[in-house]
Amino acid sequence: MPQWGVIEQGAHVEMTVMKFNINGKSVTVDGDPSMPFLWAVRDLVGLTGTKYGCGIEICRACTVWVDGSPEKSCDMSASEAVGRTITTIEGLSATPAGAKLQQAFIDLQVPQCGYCQSGMLMAATRLLSGGGVPSDAQIDSAIGNICACGTYPRVKAAIKKAAGAGTPVTTPTTKPTTTTTTTRSTTTTTRATTTTTRPRATTTTTRPKATTTTTKPKTTPTTTKTTTTRGDD
Ligand code: FES
Ligand code: FES
Repeated sequence: MPQWGVIEQGAHVEMTVMKFNINGKSVTVDGDPSMPFLWAVRDLVGLTGTKYGCGIEICRACTVWVDGSPEKSCDMSASEAVGRTITTIEGLSATPAGAKLQQAFIDLQVPQCGYCQSGMLMAATRLLSGGGVPSDAQIDSAIGNICACGTYPRVKAAIKKAAGAGTPVTTPTTKPTTTTTTTRSTTTTTRATTTTTRPRATTTTTRPKATTTTTKPKTTPTTTKTTTTRGDD
């Protein structure tokens, strides 16, 4: 794998005039022939549709066609592309399969963030160029591109649609929207009403019966002092 344009201090970089054939046009650039072709495409030619993803030959975001075959442009030097026929995402719509696929990707709203999509389209178009409707297994083996957003089912559906399989029934990447209706439970608290009947204080006022005591007036015996007058004995 070429070094990522890391130039040691004081190192002499030999600039070379390189001629590329990209998207049917001849392009001449002046640059370091050991630089990754991805850098040359993006920075020297100015075609930025090809993306830099991992830089370690895994994600395939940097896929271009070299002589009609999908290749990782981070994995080849600029000098290796000289004299080859290069197709990038910018030239894909010129191919019948590429035009159909791009339309299918739009119709089925395949891209999410979109970062992987140019590499994905390069690989998918190559697959469709052979004609026929590819099976799921054929798609899986032909497209090893990594999509961090997980658009794989939609990619598969779009490839089949572009291949003439009609509109697929399912486009499962759309996350089903779960509508959660939260019904607030209304708790009616019936307050226990305690009626305290206060015992009425019954005050029975017994009216004291008026007792009329008739005190019989005591008859004071009248002592009649009898004065006996003693006669003369
Ligand atoms: S950037 Fe080339 S494979 Fe990831
Ligand atoms: S659409 Fe986001 S990485 Fe593939």
